[in-house]
Amino acid sequence: MKRVSVTALQRMRDRDQRITMLTAYDYPTAKLADQAGIPILLVGDTLGMVVLGYDSTLPVTVDEMIHHGKAVVRASERAHVVVDMPFGSYQTGWQDALRNAARIMKETGCGSVKLEGGVRVAETVHKLVEAGIPVMGHVGLTPQSVNTVGGWKVQGKTPREAVSVIGDAKALEDAGAYSVVLETVPTALSHMITQRLRVPTIGIGAGPFCSGQVQVLHDMLGLYQDFKPKHARRFIEGGDLIRNAITEYREQVEAGEFPTAAESNYMDERALALIERMTASPSDDLSDAAEVLAEWDADGDIIERVVSDSDSTEGAS
Ligand code: KIV
Repeated sequence: MKRVSVTALQRMRDRDQRITMLTAYDYPTAKLADQAGIPILLVGDTLGMVVLGYDSTLPVTVDEMIHHGKAVVRASERAHVVVDMPFGSYQTGWQDALRNAARIMKETGCGSVKLEGGVRVAETVHKLVEAGIPVMGHVGLTPQSVNTVGGWKVQGKTPREAVSVIGDAKALEDAGAYSVVLETVPTALSHMITQRLRVPTIGIGAGPFCSGQVQVLHDMLGLYQDFKPKHARRFIEGGDLIRNAITEYREQVEAGEFPTAAESNYMDERALALIERMTASPSDDLSDAAEVLAEWDADGDIIERVVSDSDSTEGAS
């Protein structure tokens, strides 16, 4: 199946067809999202928080992004997969950025990379695009800069800040970014930026007027319960459902209700009789085993046949 390309995403934007992006970090959930028709899967560095349990995205490494990126690419057939460049992998100059982005593209097989920042990363974006690497930009609240912007705050509320966010988004488009994420900015500002850019804008906490929306999978499924961002909508209380299921599993084990006969594997009666003769009581040290086996094996490979016959009818034991 052909994957969604950056030009297909541009066509969606040009036709006013809203674009849905969702984060994915592993094989089973990426496969489900792909089957649900999500056109862009983002292997976000939110991985650090919602999967690895850090309190910010800063500790995430290139190796970790590659590890999870590979799983998402393996799981999906149709979605465009974009992998985040983690903190420290591009801020040190475009040469480092190019080396790390090329590694991410080669080792994961993803379709593009995403990095945070506007004017200050424009040269880097230009170099990556020139080298054949499609880049998604990310402005507004940029979590990798959480320590310099004073926390997880709405960005672009004052005229000066708003002009700066518009300039950042424009700089990314001019540098060749194929799309720009607008995170936690006022709706009026994201609307203005979406009207000014030719490339698709993807919003999160940026209101309904962007070309598309992105959500963090663990927020929308209710799996990340440490806190709930204002912009996140829980489409299912998955955390509660999973906790209840795990509790039920524990209760059934404790009550002796799991596993049942249908969930267990059995041995051929002849093999069982043989083993019981070899070790008549739990304290037997199997010293008689060779003698018993020799007696049963008198006509060749009967022991092996007994065991493999029972394997083939009952599956792995
Ligand atoms: O890392 C991430 O998941 C992101 C989204 C919040 C846009 O960058």
